[in-house]
Amino acid sequence: MGTNENKFTELSNIIRERHSIRHYDPDFKISDNEIKEIIKEAVSAPSGNNLQTWRFLVITDQKLKEKIFTVSNDQHQVLEASALIIILGDLKGYQQAEKIFTQSVKQGIVTEEYKDAKVKKVKENYEKENSRYGNPNWRKEIALIDGSLAAMQLMLVAKTKGYDTVPMIGYNMEGLRKILNIPDRYINVLMIPIGKAAQPAHPTLRLDVEEITFWNGID
Ligand SMILES: Cc1cc2nc3c(=O)[nH]c(=O)nc-3n(C[C@H](O)[C@H](O)[C@H](O)COP(=O)(O)O)c2cc1C
Repeated sequence: MGTNENKFTELSNIIRERHSIRHYDPDFKISDNEIKEIIKEAVSAPSGNNLQTWRFLVITDQKLKEKIFTVSNDQHQVLEASALIIILGDLKGYQQAEKIFTQSVKQGIVTEEYKDAKVKKVKENYEKENSRYGNPNWRKEIALIDGSLAAMQLMLVAKTKGYDTVPMIGYNMEGLRKILNIPDRYINVLMIPIGKAAQPAHPTLRLDVEEITFWNGID
């Protein structure tokens, strides 16, 4: 266990070392097991009601990458990266509530009564069209937030393992959905090529904290 200062430095280093890599060593392969390990860590992210609506469609097949390249605006990272991790949001993810909360009962984290009440509430909220979560836009927004939180963790975990990534939405989403036969219940969050960098990222800067932070109201 390091001190808080050490932990801050370690995390800060990882965060600052991550940059979007657009050139990968095409011969370098990350094993399926390692990709699973990365996803396992990524999904420790928070999610609305802990419903974990993120889904990961992993593409390692070169022929599929070539097809995806045709709808990716000539972005070569799609061809060169070891894998493409397509993060989707499951609009029906709430249907896993029973399973998710039953696991917590089995682990002694929550009581059976808590689980029953929670599952009932989730079902009501997500299925009633005029409720907050029943609103398709709202459900979509939650899935985008859940998926984005997992995506950020995934990129940082990849970095700690010596791999690089680039979050992407610069492709034809409908084209991608057609190529991969993605059912309507899954919305696009991000596509993340992952692999070994062949060239460094181009540097990027950030706005100053003063320029992006409001305190106690916006004037
Ligand atoms: C929502 C989103 C979409 C992005 N789409 C692409 C993309 O299609 N292609 C690409 O090369 N980079 C893409 N990026 C990466 C950004 O250009 C990059 O994160 C930003 O310039 C900051 O650089 P850095 O990641 O190296 O720090 C995207 C990033 C985000 C968050």
